[in-house]
Amino acid sequence: MKHWWQESVVYQIYPRSFCDSNGDGIGDLRGIIQKLEYLAYLGVDVIWLCPVYASPNEDNGYDVSDYTAIHPDFGTMEDMDELIDKAREHGIKIIMDIIANHTSDQHPWFIEAGKSRDSIYRDYYVFRPDQGGLPSDLQSIFLGPAWDKHPRLGDYYLHLFAKSQPDLNWHHPEVRENINGILNFWLDKGIGGFRFDVIDLIAKEIDKGIIADGPKLHEYIQEMNRKSFGQHDVLTVGETWGATVEKAKKYSNPDGSEFSMIFNFSHILLDSLPGKEKWDYIDLDLLKLKNVFDQQQTQLYQAGWNSLFWNNHDLPRIVSRWGNDQEYRVQCAKMFGILLHFMQGTPYIYQGEELGMTNVRFDDFADYRDIETKNMIDQRRKAGYSEESIRNAIWKIGRDNARTPMQWDATRNAGFTTGEPWIKLNPNYPQINVASQIDDEESVLQLMRKLIWYRKESELKTLIRDGSFNLILTQHPDIFAYQRTYSGEQLTVICNFHGNECSLDLDTTNWVRILGNYSGKDAEIGLHLRPYEAVVFRGEVGQKTGLRD
Ligand code: GLC
Ligand code: CA
Repeated sequence: MKHWWQESVVYQIYPRSFCDSNGDGIGDLRGIIQKLEYLAYLGVDVIWLCPVYASPNEDNGYDVSDYTAIHPDFGTMEDMDELIDKAREHGIKIIMDIIANHTSDQHPWFIEAGKSRDSIYRDYYVFRPDQGGLPSDLQSIFLGPAWDKHPRLGDYYLHLFAKSQPDLNWHHPEVRENINGILNFWLDKGIGGFRFDVIDLIAKEIDKGIIADGPKLHEYIQEMNRKSFGQHDVLTVGETWGATVEKAKKYSNPDGSEFSMIFNFSHILLDSLPGKEKWDYIDLDLLKLKNVFDQQQTQLYQAGWNSLFWNNHDLPRIVSRWGNDQEYRVQCAKMFGILLHFMQGTPYIYQGEELGMTNVRFDDFADYRDIETKNMIDQRRKAGYSEESIRNAIWKIGRDNARTPMQWDATRNAGFTTGEPWIKLNPNYPQINVASQIDDEESVLQLMRKLIWYRKESELKTLIRDGSFNLILTQHPDIFAYQRTYSGEQLTVICNFHGNECSLDLDTTNWVRILGNYSGKDAEIGLHLRPYEAVVFRGEVGQKTGLRD
C-alpha cells in the first residue's frame, strides 16, 4: 500500500529560532504562520514542529509541564489552531513532537507525586527509597547520575536526561492511558502526525538494568497505535538512537501496527560510539557510511520505510561536520542534499539546511544556551580538561550549532527578530540567507527546491519512491555512488566526499546528466570529479547499464 508520507518531504522547525513575530527575541507560532508561504515555495508537505507546549524550558521544551497548552513565549492555542488551518491551506500538515519518556518536574503529575508517598501519582514515575546511597550507578544521558533525591520525599527518582526531566513509568497503565489521551487531543485538531521523542527508552526495566528496547517496548507502541494514531491517516516517526536496521523493520512494519518510520541514527553514529562519549569526536569513515546506508536502503526495501536525514536540533550541521564549510560550502551542502534525496524514504530538512547554514563558533561559553552543553562544560572542567579541548568539542558537536536563528536576510539579526535574540546569531548571516538565495539560481536553496521537485513532481518520482537501491564503487575511498532502478529506468548518483579530484572509469554512453552541484560553463566535465562534486545521470537499463563490469 502506498502512503502519502512516502511522497512527502518534511521540514523540521525549531520554533525558538525560526521567526520572531513580536520582537521579544524568541521565535513563535505567528512567526511560523508568516513563513508558510516560504515553506510552500520550498515545496515541503509537512512541518515537524519541535515542542511548543507549556514548559519551564530547561531543555527548550523537551521538559513539558502541560501537553495540551501552548507556552506563552510561542503564543496561544488560537495561534496553534490558526497555524494548523493556514498550513493546511498551503497543503502542509503539522506533526507534533511528543515527549512521552519523561515530563518536566513542574508537571502536575510530578508535583502531586512529590506531596506524599501515598500519592496516586507515585507510580507515574520511578521512585526508589534511599537505602544509603544512589539506587544504582546509572548515568544520565546529559552526564552525572541518573538519580536525584526528591527534596521533600527524600526518595530517589529516575531521570535519564536532566534532573528536571523525571522519567515516566510506562508499566503503569494510567500513564499509557494519559499519553493516549494527549495524542487524541492533538489528532482531534486535525494534525498530520507525531514525532516521538526518545521512544526506545519508554519500556525501561531499571531493576534489570534494561534502559533502551525494554521487552514491552513494541507492545506499548502497538497499544498506542490501536488506541490513538492508528485510527487516522497520519505520519508517525519514532526517535530511536539505539535502532539498527533490523529493529527499524519492526518499528516501520508495513502492516501498520507501529510507526510509519523511525529516525535510525546508525549512519550518524557509524558504530563509533561504544566506549566513546559523543563529545569525543571521530572523523568520518566513508566506507562505513556507505555500508550503513547500503544496509538501510536494501534491507528496508519493501520491508519497512526509511527516514532520510543529516541534520536536526540535536546534531551539528552536516556541512560543517563532514564537509568543508569554508571554501566548498555551497558544493558540500548541495552534495549532501543530492546524495540523500535520491534515496528511498521520507526526507527531513532541518531549518537552514536548505541554505547550507553552518556550525557556529562562540568564543565565550556564556553564549551557549543548551543544557547538555552546559553540563558537559561543568563536568569536563571538573575532570581537568583544557578550556581549548572543551571549546573544540562544542564547536564540532554541540547542539547549539543547529539552534542559532534562521537566517532570513542580511538586515540586523538576519530578519529573525527586531529585539534581542535569545541566542546569538551565526555571524555569517550577511552571506548566507534566504533573501539572497531566492534571487540566485545557483544557490543551495534552489537546488533543494529542485530535489523536492524531482521527488514530488517529475517523471522520476515513482523511481525515487519505489526503485531498488544498488551501491556501486563500494570500496572507492573517495566516492559514494549508487543506482536506483525501476521498470527499465535508472538513476546513477555519484558524489565525491573529499577535497581531492578523482577520475572514474565508468561507461556513460547511455547516460544523460540531469543534475550536479557545480555550475556555469564548468558544469559538465563528465567523470573527472572535482572536490565534493556530485552528479546525477539518468539512463535506460537493458541495453547497457553504464557499469563496466
Ligand atoms: C531527544 C530530543 C532532545 C532532548 C531529549 C530529551 O533526544 O531530540 O532535544 O533533549 O530527547 O527529551
Ligand atoms: Ca516572539
